[in-house]
Amino acid sequence: MINKKMASLLNEQFGKELYASNLYLSISSYFENQSLEGFANFFIVQSDEEHGHAMRIFDYLHDVDAKIEMPAIAKPPDKFKSTVHAFEETLKQEKQNSKDIYTLVKQSLKDNEFATHTFLQWFVSEQVEEEASIKRILEQLNMIGNNKSALFLLDKDLSNRKATTE
Ligand SMILES: [Fe+2]
Ligand SMILES: [Fe+2]
Repeated sequence: MINKKMASLLNEQFGKELYASNLYLSISSYFENQSLEGFANFFIVQSDEEHGHAMRIFDYLHDVDAKIEMPAIAKPPDKFKSTVHAFEETLKQEKQNSKDIYTLVKQSLKDNEFATHTFLQWFVSEQVEEEASIKRILEQLNMIGNNKSALFLLDKDLSNRKATTE
């Protein structure tokens, strides 16, 4: 069992994870259009992971006998000024998502929703990793500047990212 307020906040988070998944597909397409296939691959994997996060919430809500209400998903941006800009948007998205997760954690403690509190811990750790990995690439991009061959090497490196089971 889970209280109504907690269930509805988790349902909203389910929608936010789906939005993130769509945003990363949009960014993947931006890179695909420039033949930066490593970057495009990185964002396909990123999108799959966000879908996985949404599914964790989907499964959890069913496990605790709450109803899923399919949320409307806003259209993500599809124009990006540069590679750096696309990663800045990604970092912004991840920082916002960390805040949203913290709001859920606070609510779970306030309402003595201990099972939900435990469920959310995975997301707290995941956000630390997500922000760190995006920040690292953003720093590398800023080092690279206009150096096309360095960008090509990073693209090659990012083509190695594989989907995880998470
Ligand atoms: Fe996520
Ligand atoms: Fe994320």
